[in-house]
Parts: sequence; structure tokens; C-alpha cells
Amino acid sequence: MGRIVCVANQKGGVGKTTTASNLAAGLAKGGLRTLLVDLDPQCNATTGFGAVPAAEHPLVSERPLAESVVSTDIESLSLLPGSRSVRDVERIAALSRSGSAVLEQHMAYGLGGWDYCLIDCPPSLGDLTRTALAGSTEVLMPIQCEYFALEGLTQMIEVIRDVMQARPGRLQFGGIVLTMHEASLELTHEVEAEVRDFFGEIVFETVIPRDVAVSEAPSHAMSVLDYAPRSAGARAYTELCMEVRDCE
Ligand SMILES: Nc1ncnc2c1ncn2[C@@H]1O[C@H](COP(=O)(O)OP(=O)(O)OP(=O)(O)O)[C@@H](O)[C@H]1O
Ligand SMILES: [Mg+2]
Repeated sequence: MGRIVCVANQKGGVGKTTTASNLAAGLAKGGLRTLLVDLDPQCNATTGFGAVPAAEHPLVSERPLAESVVSTDIESLSLLPGSRSVRDVERIAALSRSGSAVLEQHMAYGLGGWDYCLIDCPPSLGDLTRTALAGSTEVLMPIQCEYFALEGLTQMIEVIRDVMQARPGRLQFGGIVLTMHEASLELTHEVEAEVRDFFGEIVFETVIPRDVAVSEAPSHAMSVLDYAPRSAGARAYTELCMEVRDCE
């Protein structure tokens, strides 16, 4: 079975969408059949690849997920667009709260046939993130190299533990990636040391540097790997892909 990677952190703007999108692009460029799933009503992963948000979220649509999948400019990369509909978010939340297995079955069925699925989560610990965690085989958490990086992570980890306990043996901790790393800043090194000290070997060796090419790429509907292949950001995401692939 393929790997379903939930990219989550309840903090906003830490690089979840950027990481999900560029990892998905890198894995697909390595020849792996990859699906990027946009579960965030902001739909940044969708528009970042030049796609249009869906009128109805594929997860609550009656149609099989496969019918909502769209292709991208990268051959092996497909996208399951997000939806901006508040009503759909509420429907997903209600289904998830009711303990119904509908969403999980829908995901297991629709996401099972890919080598990799990357799920981009919204910045919250709400029902969308829980739904994504429940449907995933691993969780990858981007942490931004800034002062409040570790604050709030305890709640995030509690939610992950909850989901792990509800489904023993399914969800694993895939790893932590440090984003917007600025080697010239003392603060970056302090945060990196603290995160590595606290989380140990689950922190990826690769760090993602702060790089303007990374932030420009989505406005050209591209991953940084295509937009600026020689940039430090592109190199870092390529290395991260290799680390993710290696840690089966
Ligand atoms: N390595 C980087 N270098 C420079 N800018 C970056 C980098 N990573 C992310 N950014 C920029 O930081 C901002 C936040 O990134 P992103 O949207 O990926 O975070 P997020 O966690 O998905 O946010 P949200 O919680 O709102 O969904 C974006 O403007 C993005 O372009
Ligand atoms: Mg995002």
C-alpha cells in the first residue's frame, strides 16, 4: 500500500502547504505516482498549482474521489482540489465528530492506489486535521525556525497520540522538518538546537532554508523544483524527498 502523509501543524504560516506541495512535486519527479490532497479551505495547495478550487469538497461529494482528481504540469503528480465552502467544512466536521467511518472509508478507498498521498492541512487542530490524521499512515510536521516554534506543539502531539491510540499500528510519526531556516541568524540555531534536543532523531537532517524562490514559485503555478531548480530551496526539498523515501 502507498504512504499517506499528513502535513500538519496547528500554527499558521509555518510552511505546511509549501512543504506538502514541493515534497509532492519532488516525489512525482522521481517517478512515483503522487497525489496532493488539499484539505485546507484556504485552497493554497490547489491554486499554487494553477488549479481551481472545487465547488463541493471531494471528501463530502457523492462521487468517488478518483473522479475529482485533476492532473498537473508534472507528469506523475495529480491534485485533489480543496473547496472554500464553509458548509463542506462543517459537513466534514459533523461526519468526523459523529464517529462515522464514512470519511475514513472514502479516503482509504480513494487514496489507496497511489505511491504517495500528501495531505495539506489547515492551521488548526479541528476536525479537518483530525480527519486527515485518521486517514494517514504518517504525519509530517513542519516547524518554523522562530521564537514561538515549540509553543502549542504539546496539544498537536496530544491529538496525534489520540488518533494513534484509536487506530493502533496505522498512523506513525513521519518526522519533523525545520522550515525557513536562516543560517546567519542566531535565533535559527537556537530553535534548531531546541527542536533537535527535544524531538531527537525524528527531526529530518535536511532543513529548508528561507529562500525567496520558494515563496515566488506558487505565483507562477509551479513547485520550486521547476521554478528555480538550482535554488537552495529546490535543493533542500529534493534532499528532503530522499530522506522521506528512505524512512519507510
Ligand atoms: N522556505 C521558505 N522560504 C521563503 N518563504 C517561505 C518558505 N516556506 C514558506 N514560505 C512562505 O511563507 C508563507 C507561509 O508558508 P505556507 O503557506 O507554506 O505555510 P502554511 O503553514 O501552509 O500556512 P497556513 O497555516 O496559512 O496554511 C508563504 O508566503 C510561503 O510562500
Ligand atoms: Mg497552508
